[in-house]
Amino acid sequence: MTYLFFLGQTSDLCWEELKTVLARFALPEPDRLEERFAALDSEELIDVEQLQHVLGGTYKIAQIHSITPHLEFSEVESTVKNIITELQPKRFALAEHGRDHLPVVEAREIKRQLNNAGTKVSYHETPRTGANAAVLKHNKSLTELHVIQLEQSLLFATTLTWQDPDAWRIRDVEKPMRDRKRGMLSSKVSRMMLNLGIGTHQPQDAIVLDPFCGMGTILIEAVDLGVLSVLGNDASPEAIVSTTKNLAWWSEESSNEFQHSLTVKKSENLEPRDFPTQPTCIVTEPFLGKLTPTPEQIPGVIRGLEKMYKGTVRSFAKLLPEGGRVVMILPAYEGKKGKTITVTKALDEFAAQGFEQLSGPFRGGRPSAVTQREIYVFEKKAPRG
Ligand SMILES: C[S@@+](CC[C@H](N)C(=O)[O-])C[C@H]1O[C@@H](n2cnc3c(N)ncnc32)[C@H](O)[C@@H]1O
Repeated sequence: MTYLFFLGQTSDLCWEELKTVLARFALPEPDRLEERFAALDSEELIDVEQLQHVLGGTYKIAQIHSITPHLEFSEVESTVKNIITELQPKRFALAEHGRDHLPVVEAREIKRQLNNAGTKVSYHETPRTGANAAVLKHNKSLTELHVIQLEQSLLFATTLTWQDPDAWRIRDVEKPMRDRKRGMLSSKVSRMMLNLGIGTHQPQDAIVLDPFCGMGTILIEAVDLGVLSVLGNDASPEAIVSTTKNLAWWSEESSNEFQHSLTVKKSENLEPRDFPTQPTCIVTEPFLGKLTPTPEQIPGVIRGLEKMYKGTVRSFAKLLPEGGRVVMILPAYEGKKGKTITVTKALDEFAAQGFEQLSGPFRGGRPSAVTQREIYVFEKKAPRG
């Protein structure tokens, strides 16, 4: 069977997460199909529900029915009819992707022709890009068929699973302690960062540290992914009170069982003895400085952050074992002539402390933000010589 993965808006990050998670599940390598899709051929049936739960950046998983070169419009309609006749769904919805420049496939007319030919099926109208997850969740008998126009081919696929909107919303907006000023990372970006940090290990074998834990977003996400032991730190005692409350809330709200240990320190001063166990990975969104600096303020903001990040990277080197990963957001700003300005000295410190950059930077936030969030993945290497 060939599976199709729908990648979210930060598509390079979503793709990197997908490759990592499929490798963790010992599945074959996927192929990226242009910007927003990936395909995977597998002889074994895949537990797509489980995969969907683990992935933060894939919003739907579908089954591909056919991949063809360019088709005439009437052939597209007849392929849709054939697939529906074969699948015999009670109700169908039709989504089209990459076809804004082409006439709409008239699903209502297809339904009428099918009914006339004796195939009983009803049609559920959705936006041209497809049904949202809430509609799919509440209409279990609905089969969503996708017509996907790629540069060289046309794909026909039906949805198998989708991201449960309620599960993500609860963790994003129902946490008892929230703080807009401190900034709260989305649970989906947190999840993708965690998957890159845990890599091909199993989540239950990972011990995740967030040294700038804020409200505890990353730690809650780690627990939902199946991590049994999380470590947190923040320079602000109030943040640690909030993380404690949010973790207690999540322990009540979910069936997850986990241990946690929290400290209040500047990240630059963290030592192995601050935690009861050694972290296997560090996943974090640090303090990013003033979020809307003027162009004149940027050099000063960068200097201040670089000093703090350099000290922090030195403590990461002491905290992690060989092979331990750091997944960290670093700020970047658009300079003159589209040049990116970033915290270069912090990146140099990672190399100086024996970390190799495995991947990134991946854009993790809104493209229009003044302070861009760039996600890097580093791994601690064995000392040379
Ligand atoms: C961007 S927030 C993290 C938000 C978090 N990802 C969340 O979603 O709740 C950065 C955090 O770093 C903390 N912080 C600032 N300077 C620090 C330092 N030197 N060491 C440790 N924590 C620090 C702040 O108190 C703040 O909670």
